[in-house]
Amino acid sequence: HDTLGDLAKRAGIKFGAAVNTDVLATDAKYRHLVGTQFTSVTPENVMKWEVVEPEQGVYDYTAADQLVAFAKQHHQVVRGHNLVWHNQLPAWLTSGTFTAAQLRDILHQHITAEASHFRGKIQQWDVVNEALNDDGTFRQDIWYNAYQELTGDGTGYIADAFRWAHQADPHAKLFYNDYNLEFTGVKSDAAYALVKQLKSEGVPIDGVGFQGHLDTQYGYPDLQNNLQRFADLHLQVAMTEVDVRTFVKQNADGTYSDTPATPADAQKQIDYWTNTVKACLAVKACKSFTTWGVSDNYSWIPGVFTGEGAGLLYDQNENPKPQYFAVADVLRHA
Ligand code: G3I
Repeated sequence: HDTLGDLAKRAGIKFGAAVNTDVLATDAKYRHLVGTQFTSVTPENVMKWEVVEPEQGVYDYTAADQLVAFAKQHHQVVRGHNLVWHNQLPAWLTSGTFTAAQLRDILHQHITAEASHFRGKIQQWDVVNEALNDDGTFRQDIWYNAYQELTGDGTGYIADAFRWAHQADPHAKLFYNDYNLEFTGVKSDAAYALVKQLKSEGVPIDGVGFQGHLDTQYGYPDLQNNLQRFADLHLQVAMTEVDVRTFVKQNADGTYSDTPATPADAQKQIDYWTNTVKACLAVKACKSFTTWGVSDNYSWIPGVFTGEGAGLLYDQNENPKPQYFAVADVLRHA
């Protein structure tokens, strides 16, 4: 039968998954699903700074290169994730021994090295990830603080990052990526102001990634309108990390299942998934939809939100769930 990727292709979009490369190497069923169901892949961890530059100036692209090769073999595009983030930085970098000017040089070097290494192989790069707090202020992370000290404008690293990435890989589409942009409010407004400003300064930004980590307890966001207003700035938009978590039942041994706590939650998950796909399909500039993982047994959610889970389209045994069939239907009738 048709895969999600096949159906999405007919609907005119890529349908991708974030891939855990350790699991890809060891779990044949997972590998089969990744290779057949999806037309785009994102490395869940192995293009992040702590993995690719574990020692200063010493690069290790082994795992990421393997995924890029897998993608080529399976005619998939690759979303690069990510070049600049406050998280998953190597210890040598966060040790606090660098001056602000050195940090700017380190950032320049890292972006240039990594984006050059993958030049021509990345469809969309998440150049800057999660620069904003939920209250719409800028996250005062290592990059912000360095630029603040150097130039009096902490946000300056963002424009630099896009310019350096563009120099290193002129054909990749360059994205700002963040969570909670799905909801109308201060954070989405701040991201809108940020990318509008970048565009007006001629910074080479091509798109905005809406991560889409949804939770049934918070209600379904005003997603389509938010996608559309960013698209109206002549930017691409993409759903980059979609999962829909909910509270789940506990097993007798204390572990958590991937069975939603109530039938109402189970139905909400299906509705959130279908509405999210429909929102992307309804916005012309949304051509890429990625789920943050494949199956519930390898999802990041239970490790971070105790008692929540069941966020993905496949269950803990890597079998398709009702939301899989619901999403397939939406794509089929697009
Ligand atoms: O690789 C080490 C391993 O050597 C060690 O034994 C093990 C022990 O904890 O940790 C392993 O590292 C883990 C890493 O994933 C690789 O599996 C980290 O502890 C763990 O924190 C890390 O979690 C990742 C998380 O980002 C970090 O913030 C998740 O897998 C990944 O799904 C998640 O992805 C993020 C996106 O990049 C950005 N948006 C939000 C999204 C979800 O948090």
